[in-house]
Amino acid sequence: MGYLFDDLKNRFDFFLRSKITFSRKNYREKACDIDEFELTGAQNELYDYLNKKYDLSIFKGLNSRNFFENLYFLSVFDKYFEQKNMGEISVLDIGSKNWSYVRSEYLFFKTLSENLILNGIELDAYRLCSNFYNRYEISKFYKKDLKNTEYIAGDFLKHSQKYDYIVWILPFITEYPLIKWGLPLEYFKPEEMLLHAYDLLKPDGEILIINQGEKEAEIQTELFKQTGLAAEFTPEKIDDIFGLLKNDRYCSKVINRN
Ligand SMILES: C[S@@+](CC[C@H](N)C(=O)[O-])C[C@H]1O[C@@H](n2cnc3c(N)ncnc32)[C@H](O)[C@@H]1O
Repeated sequence: MGYLFDDLKNRFDFFLRSKITFSRKNYREKACDIDEFELTGAQNELYDYLNKKYDLSIFKGLNSRNFFENLYFLSVFDKYFEQKNMGEISVLDIGSKNWSYVRSEYLFFKTLSENLILNGIELDAYRLCSNFYNRYEISKFYKKDLKNTEYIAGDFLKHSQKYDYIVWILPFITEYPLIKWGLPLEYFKPEEMLLHAYDLLKPDGEILIINQGEKEAEIQTELFKQTGLAAEFTPEKIDDIFGLLKNDRYCSKVINRN
């Protein structure tokens, strides 16, 4: 009963935007200049570490917000994913929104294999942002020139390709954020989504999940219990060295050991 009105409205709006896709074309943003930023000691240290290990020139062309968002995610992947060299590698990002952070994923996984296939899947790909570009159109700018990188407009639960790595940033594990993000409640299926993600893992494949806030981290832990999946570690607070986030984020990981 709680979200009856919001759910009705979301169902109607969601239906409309899946039928009538509207967007301005050719999104671009003003590139930042990293030399303009005064980084503190810890920020400098992290930046130097990443800059030595990865070719950060791939972030050129992004505005400052997205530049640091990509640096932040690169540091998270670098810390939490197992780094093994592979002949070829397939990666899925679940719930990509406009995929503003795709370059961090591409850069990180490309260092593990030259033969990278990177997919992002988004249910609400045609949602309009306040600048009248939809997410799909904006994602074209972020993934420009990245080889074998595809933004899929669709429902993850209907997706059946298998992956070596899955990245899942801010899954909906309570109803409230899903409603606020404009989705119908019928898409609130946290257990089914988690089990499906696990089913799509190749042997030794890994899912990295990032949640927002301590409460969500606890609910995520409960979800692992309910689904019978063993996480490698209980959600761990992620350092926000670049000071980007309003709320703490927590990271957990599941590996397919079968
Ligand atoms: C909280 S947002 C996170 C977006 C993005 N990962 C980020 O960190 O900015 C969750 C996203 O998951 C998408 N989503 C929810 N259910 C989905 C499904 N079944 N298949 C694909 N995407 C889904 C939503 O539309 C939304 O864009």
